[in-house]
Amino acid sequence: MTVRKVPDVTFRTRVRDETIEGSNPFRWEDKTSADYFAGKRVVLFSLPGAFTPTCSTYQLPDFEKLYDEFKAAGIDAIYCISVNDAFVMNAWGKAQGLKNVELIPDGSGEFTRKMGMLVAKDNLGFGMRSWRYGAVVNDGVVEKWFEEEGFSDNCDSDPYGVSSPQTILEALKKDKVAEAA
Ligand code: BEZ
Repeated sequence: MTVRKVPDVTFRTRVRDETIEGSNPFRWEDKTSADYFAGKRVVLFSLPGAFTPTCSTYQLPDFEKLYDEFKAAGIDAIYCISVNDAFVMNAWGKAQGLKNVELIPDGSGEFTRKMGMLVAKDNLGFGMRSWRYGAVVNDGVVEKWFEEEGFSDNCDSDPYGVSSPQTILEALKKDKVAEAA
């Protein structure tokens, strides 16, 4: 089987820093793929855009709610990535009241492109975005892959199901049962 690794990229994040005076105490912090993926077994999911309806109503909040079950299934962290900049991703995290899922800003789309998941969404005025997918990534190596059907540019629909938290959790739980047998 081909070993598929997540690409090495640098993400430009914005983090709160109380040493900064004024009403906007944030600074840039570069984080690499190694920072997120080395030595951890994580769930990564990627979606077309922050604040979009399915992502904001189902996918992200459901991953957030099921976090403890993912931990029990052997997952160290859950990451949500989107081709959006750090300002947008932080605002989305705040609006969602996130405590568990970490948002990764792939503003330039470099990670998504190197994963082979970058698609045009010009039909929605979005430019280049991510196709919806999920993955279990163990120490940077893709262990399980959950890609929505119909990968294409300017897709008329927005398939959602294969990369839902429920589907991914079920696969992880099945593995646990099989391991124990
Ligand atoms: C949604 O999450 O519902 C959505 C995503 C991309 C475009 C339009 C809607």
